[in-house]
Amino acid sequence: MISFFRAHKRTITILLVGLCAFCLYPNFDIEFLLFFPIFVLLIVSQLFWIRRVLDLGERFIPGKPRRIWLAVVATVVYAFFCAYSFTHFGILHQWHLLTTGHLPVHADPTLRSALIDGALCVWLLGSWLGFCLVMVFWTVDRGARGAIWLYRYMHDAAVNHATAPEADAIDLPSLVRRNLLRQMAIAVSATPFVAAAYGLLYGRLDVEVTHPRIRLARLPKAFEGFRIAQLSDIHISPFMTATEIRRCVTMTNEQKPDLIVMTGDYLSWDTAVQGEVVQALAGLRAPYGVFGSLGNHESITHTEESITRLFAAQGIHILRQERAPIQLNGETINLIGVDDSQTDDSWIDHLVMPGTVNILLTHVPVPDTLDWAVKYGFDLVLAGDSHGGQLSLNFLKRRISLYGLHTPYVSGLYEKSGGQLYVNRGIGTTLLPIRLGARPEITVLELTRGV
Ligand SMILES: [Fe+2]
Repeated sequence: MISFFRAHKRTITILLVGLCAFCLYPNFDIEFLLFFPIFVLLIVSQLFWIRRVLDLGERFIPGKPRRIWLAVVATVVYAFFCAYSFTHFGILHQWHLLTTGHLPVHADPTLRSALIDGALCVWLLGSWLGFCLVMVFWTVDRGARGAIWLYRYMHDAAVNHATAPEADAIDLPSLVRRNLLRQMAIAVSATPFVAAAYGLLYGRLDVEVTHPRIRLARLPKAFEGFRIAQLSDIHISPFMTATEIRRCVTMTNEQKPDLIVMTGDYLSWDTAVQGEVVQALAGLRAPYGVFGSLGNHESITHTEESITRLFAAQGIHILRQERAPIQLNGETINLIGVDDSQTDDSWIDHLVMPGTVNILLTHVPVPDTLDWAVKYGFDLVLAGDSHGGQLSLNFLKRRISLYGLHTPYVSGLYEKSGGQLYVNRGIGTTLLPIRLGARPEITVLELTRGV
């Protein structure tokens, strides 16, 4: 039996990696093509980094028995982290529930389990990104060596009509130099661990207040310079506490907006804290009121009715296929809200007001949002859901993130055929409590008729 495993070690490893990756996303749909390779890389990255840690142990820890003990302790700690995340409401458990279609029934994690889960998230993200960097180094190295070999082969063939040089005859870097390069590659590849820790401890809380100007040709004169603050994707949890939400409320109020709107996802999973998030948001103040719409987390936690009632008791009006005309000096703009769970368009016709600006609060900026908005007469759509990609390279291009695979609308302002869409990056997080390249955002939009 043992000899069989030894003889087929590679095949068995590949099969086990594939099986584990499938278990992490057990659905044969279009997204399987995206998630399966991601999880294969994730699992292989675990094996890679464990191997590197063992290498380090062999180099720096004297004595085999001591190394074995340390390896056993490290294995137990690693297994504990993974098991804890599965048995409590950690990232692996959340992911499992989402992908298998089971609705969450547990509360959000306690602070203690959240800290343990946070450490695991830093490890998972850091190890995955680090391994991807190693693969890039490896590919570049192999490509460079292949190019050198090809160049020399062609050069020699042209000059001497000689046969191709043997691979061994190539003047490759010395063993010492190659080892040094390898160590440098691993050191650089370890930077994602630092980046992930930064995203957990700082990037997640580094709220940015943005001030986009929105030009609306049909804006009534009285609303020139009218300022609307938008909050989105609060996701109350141990990683976004009521205290932190109140800090964002204070930041919003300090902007002295005329109107405040919220575009859904007040909860993460725990329905028991809906009163707490509503209380924290109840401090929002604006002369023309505070309005909101509902997100997918209110839908999947079945809290649409209850949280709407709780908000209403605090004077905050959640617009559920409803409108709220905002009046100023006898002129009107029309604010409309729609639930994320609303699947048909039957509610639109009697809510849109011709002759003035219609602003829609929705949650998900789906790919046809702008075409759809223009078709039905919405001048401006305010949305959230994306978290700006949460892990994003938007300094290169704002669509470069996993969310960007779903829709072109990830963050900021988009315009098409006279319709405009603003996607707020939200202030909370889901799944990974980490933000990189997508700062939490409070938006203060200034409306103008100017061209
Ligand atoms: Fe969200």
